[in-house]
Amino acid sequence: MNTAETFAQYVLPTYGRFPLVPVKGEGSWLWDDTGKRYLDFCTGIAVCSLGHCHPALTKAIQEQAATLLHCSNLYQIPQQAELAKTIVEDHVGIAGKVFFSNSGAEANDGIIKTARRFGHHNRQTNGEPRYEVITFTQSFHGRTLGAMAATGQKKIQEGFDPLLPGFRYCPFNDLAALEAAISPITVAILLEPIQGEGGVNCATPEFLSGAATLAKKHDLLLFFDEVQAGFGRCGEAMAWRAFCPEIEPDGITWAKGMGGGFPIGAFWVSDRLIDATTPLSSLMGPGSHGSTYGGNPLACAASLAVLKVIHEQDLAIHARSMEAHIREVFASWDQTTLTVVRGKGLLLGFAIDATKMPIVEGKTPAQVLCSKLMEKGLLTVPAGPEALRILPPLTVTTEEIDDALEIIRSTVQELTLI
Ligand SMILES: Cc1ncc(COP(=O)(O)O)c(C=O)c1O
Repeated sequence: MNTAETFAQYVLPTYGRFPLVPVKGEGSWLWDDTGKRYLDFCTGIAVCSLGHCHPALTKAIQEQAATLLHCSNLYQIPQQAELAKTIVEDHVGIAGKVFFSNSGAEANDGIIKTARRFGHHNRQTNGEPRYEVITFTQSFHGRTLGAMAATGQKKIQEGFDPLLPGFRYCPFNDLAALEAAISPITVAILLEPIQGEGGVNCATPEFLSGAATLAKKHDLLLFFDEVQAGFGRCGEAMAWRAFCPEIEPDGITWAKGMGGGFPIGAFWVSDRLIDATTPLSSLMGPGSHGSTYGGNPLACAASLAVLKVIHEQDLAIHARSMEAHIREVFASWDQTTLTVVRGKGLLLGFAIDATKMPIVEGKTPAQVLCSKLMEKGLLTVPAGPEALRILPPLTVTTEEIDDALEIIRSTVQELTLI
């Protein structure tokens, strides 16, 4: 079978795919169908947090698949209970409850529904429900109708209107604009502590703490989308703690790295009281939300194995020290095409000076660089038109980082227009 031709004939062309046919992975490495080996710093876009085919994850999936693969959420799935407990106690560290989905977009839809429930509970002074969620320009929250409407990027929404109403977009890191956007119908603020797809843009500590203060003042829920950034990737178990550890969100969403490659997502909602007697987490009661597959035994066993390794091997701390190493090596380079390293932990972006790059019809500078790196044996991801993102596995070694950086340095030198 010719994979490219079969793709063209049978798969909807929703992705602009690179000409690579992956067939095998191990640790930080991925092989294509010609036997070529790549250092994988794309990791399925921040998914394979333990690298490819980590023995603990493979074993957990094999054992669970041979024991009980799926059962309904009508029953008390023990792996789901244990995973929720682990997430709350070992990773979030704030009392609350978890709902399991299959993806990040679904997790965001669930938390948006939670915001709407809250808006029916704590209403406007005229008795009408509140419903508007403030999100941010350049954000990305997913492709479902709800998550797409939450996403502050026109190009993602183009041609799909009418959008789900109830969202208002503010410039990121602009506290005055956020304050001005709050109105009687506002019910929540949803933001990524690091905008991954939007170009690797970090929230400033002042912005996060200001948003938390505004949320308190106006009785709004503060939600963090950590679908890409959570569970160790940013150098802390929870991404927001890498920027502003003193604040406490009301809800968080995750997916990607929590399953290490097995599809799973989740959202957590705080147990905090929203009136004298009602915990926020009680608003999503029986019948309010559901998912046939979400939190099934196999997905939860896989995620438990991943989170156990991240927690026990302190991979968040490892991510932090790898970031420091990357910044040190980058600072030693004699070049000006990559202008700065943005991001935290192992969610990093190299900003590209587009004027120094060759122009390729129909391709952004980030795509041009990414394609060239792929030829040289390194997989990376564009983040917007002018940033190259690297998302190595959290298990990556210093030697692998050094190899990848040398490929980036020499490729940039080769591409740079003098
Ligand atoms: C921050 C963020 N939120 C949500 C999503 C959507 O996740 P999924 O593709 O699993 O639906 C993504 C995916 O890239 C993301 O980066």
